[in-house]
Amino acid sequence: MAATIKNISIFLFFLGFISQGNVFPGYCETCSLKDLYVKTSKTGVTIQGKPEWLVTVTNNCQCGQTQVILNCRGYKTVEPVDPNILTYSGTDYCLINNGKPIYKQPITFKYAWDTAFSMSPNSSQITC
Ligand SMILES: *[C@@H]1O[C@H](CO)[C@@H](O)[C@H](O)[C@H]1NC(C)=O
Repeated sequence: MAATIKNISIFLFFLGFISQGNVFPGYCETCSLKDLYVKTSKTGVTIQGKPEWLVTVTNNCQCGQTQVILNCRGYKTVEPVDPNILTYSGTDYCLINNGKPIYKQPITFKYAWDTAFSMSPNSSQITC
């Protein structure tokens, strides 16, 4: 009995590894926009009289997400942000990472303005 449980554990352990490599087609189907988290925090630094904000975009999905767009209406900054990390549409949207996939490694950027903008995921595509 104990041996059987051990074997099952080993099997599940390896299954986990295989899944990471996306060998199983439907594996990413559980991934969605909800796996993206946006966190904003104050860095404590002041730039041109405005507080600096650190934004972290985390993808908790096993698969990459491309074309990640955040709601960021009215976005402004006095601190230049690398356009490869964030591009503002000029209206409502911010494209993150120039549309390139975001994996487990969070994407971070900093901007400076009087108030923090509430950024939330608007859309993305799951890549497998
Ligand atoms: C995406 O942006 C559009 C336009 O601002 C808005 O109507 C829609 O609700 C947004 N979707 C999400 C998931 O935030």
